[in-house]
Amino acid sequence: MGSVLATALVRAGHRVTVWNRTPERAASFAGVGAGVASSARDAVEASDVVVVCVTPASVNAVLELAAEAMEGKVLLNVSTRTPQHAASTARWAAKRGIAYLDGGILAVPSMIATAASTILVSGSRDVFDRAEPVVAAWGQANYVGAGPGDAAARDIALLSAMYCMFGGIWWAQAFGRAHDISDDEILGMVVPWLEAMLADLPNDSHDEVGSSVEMQADGFHLFLEASVDANVDPAVLAPIGDLLRRAVAAGHGKRGLDVMADLLRGDSDGDR
Ligand SMILES: NC(=O)c1ccc[n+]([C@@H]2O[C@H](COP(=O)([O-])OP(=O)(O)OC[C@H]3O[C@@H](n4cnc5c(N)ncnc54)[C@H](OP(=O)(O)O)[C@@H]3O)[C@@H](O)[C@H]2O)c1
Repeated sequence: MGSVLATALVRAGHRVTVWNRTPERAASFAGVGAGVASSARDAVEASDVVVVCVTPASVNAVLELAAEAMEGKVLLNVSTRTPQHAASTARWAAKRGIAYLDGGILAVPSMIATAASTILVSGSRDVFDRAEPVVAAWGQANYVGAGPGDAAARDIALLSAMYCMFGGIWWAQAFGRAHDISDDEILGMVVPWLEAMLADLPNDSHDEVGSSVEMQADGFHLFLEASVDANVDPAVLAPIGDLLRRAVAAGHGKRGLDVMADLLRGDSDGDR
């Protein structure tokens, strides 16, 4: 991802200096108009905005490589991390006089610099204004708040939603294949179906509804039976049935599916 971000910046006309732990992976940038630094510190010294895109576990170690050189500069981390990690790095940066932004990339490398790419960013608005031309080279720059963890919270929420929905789609594809239904047919139907159901999800009143949790919990065993019959692993389905039954046991049987978010927060009486 880091090399795609750097390439997009070069193409957008920015002056770019790259550094990568394994030098061979950065060497090719010399041919595309970017500087190639031999140390993280050299890359930082050559830059006003410092972008960090590394594995989540290595962010802190990479920052320590050039901490002193970052004083007075903008540091934009776009490595995926939790809101707590972002808050911790914001404290680390504040002690060193570094203007910190945290980002979440809602894209895979092939989507960078296309209309399909959104970059969530949080931190001081003034600092974001300084870094926006950099972020805009990668996709839609979406400033989401002053809190250091504001971008990461949305990033984690959206990625988690994606993984859980993809789990359901993978199951539907496997089940479809067992019944001679093509992936294309499944995928073509799943988006309009989810859009229709999502429009029905909010139910602020928590009043009795036509499609209650109780009804859904009662029928859920059918999906598990069909899964076993089709020899498709029910691993992604089973926890949903368990959650629905927990909601009924907690007294939410007559409510709509929006109560499930309260249940997941451990709010047993279902009040927001
Ligand atoms: N790829 C995606 O679709 C995508 C989408 C959104 C967000 N992201 C985020 O972008 C970040 C990078 O992902 P990626 O796909 O580029 O992963 P990647 O291809 O595995 O690259 C990881 C990078 O981290 C560096 N690195 C790892 N440990 C390091 C250490 N201890 N010290 C210095 N550098 C270290 C690697 O350097 P070496 O080359 O020396 O190993 C490499 O440049 C991650 O936080 C990921 O969650 C990725």
